Amino acid sequence: MDTTPAAWLRERPSLTGTPPALHPDAVPDDPLALFLNWITAAAEAGVAEPHAATLATADADGTPDARTLILKDVDERGWAFAGTRSSAKGRQLAVNPAAALNFWWQPVLRAVRVRGPVVEAPAGESAADLAARSAAARAGVADGDWVLWRIVPNRIEFWQGATDRRHTRIVYTREGDRWLRSWSGGDGTRRGADEEGRG
Ligand SMILES: Cc1cc2nc3c(=O)[nH]c(=O)nc-3n(C[C@H](O)[C@H](O)[C@H](O)COP(=O)(O)O)c2cc1C
Repeated sequence: MDTTPAAWLRERPSLTGTPPALHPDAVPDDPLALFLNWITAAAEAGVAEPHAATLATADADGTPDARTLILKDVDERGWAFAGTRSSAKGRQLAVNPAAALNFWWQPVLRAVRVRGPVVEAPAGESAADLAARSAAARAGVADGDWVLWRIVPNRIEFWQGATDRRHTRIVYTREGDRWLRSWSGGDGTRRGADEEGRG
């Protein structure tokens, strides 16, 4: 680096991906379907590890923490990830069972944010997840320390950047047993019950 960090950083390109066609009015009612659509599109666009994501948790006093991990499963029960109970995330989730999970898929200029309470999977599922790991990955994990958790989202944001910076943001919020959907972006239009605008 032969310049200041700020100057060097300013020269790095951002929003260099190629956003696919997106029609916010035509996305599925269920955010799980849209998530599966986007993560497979990311893989097809060349994202080598589209299931790698940043998980944010917080200590009991609210101090945030974040780390990279792998999405292990996703279905109507939630977005599943795994690790040890004795890890920082394990300790944080024990006192503060809520998290946010962030995906960034550069080639398609897309990001997804998943947020909500976290529940621990039944012990049999955690054991099955550990058993599916390689012997090397299992080594050193104490009995009962491996946990599969699920974020049960109450809010999911799908963000797609545009090279002209007219980004699109589709937000699903859970209301009881159904999802409300709103979106803004592209040409500056806004549709649906925006979270901020409700109640
Ligand atoms: C691509 C990638 C995938 C990872 N996957 C996991 C994972 O699935 N579970 C996990 O506990 N840590 C995973 N890690 C390691 C974590 O990022 C982290 O360093 C470690 O787990 C400590 O997290 P903690 O905050 O819970 O202590 C991964 C790291 C990278 C870079």
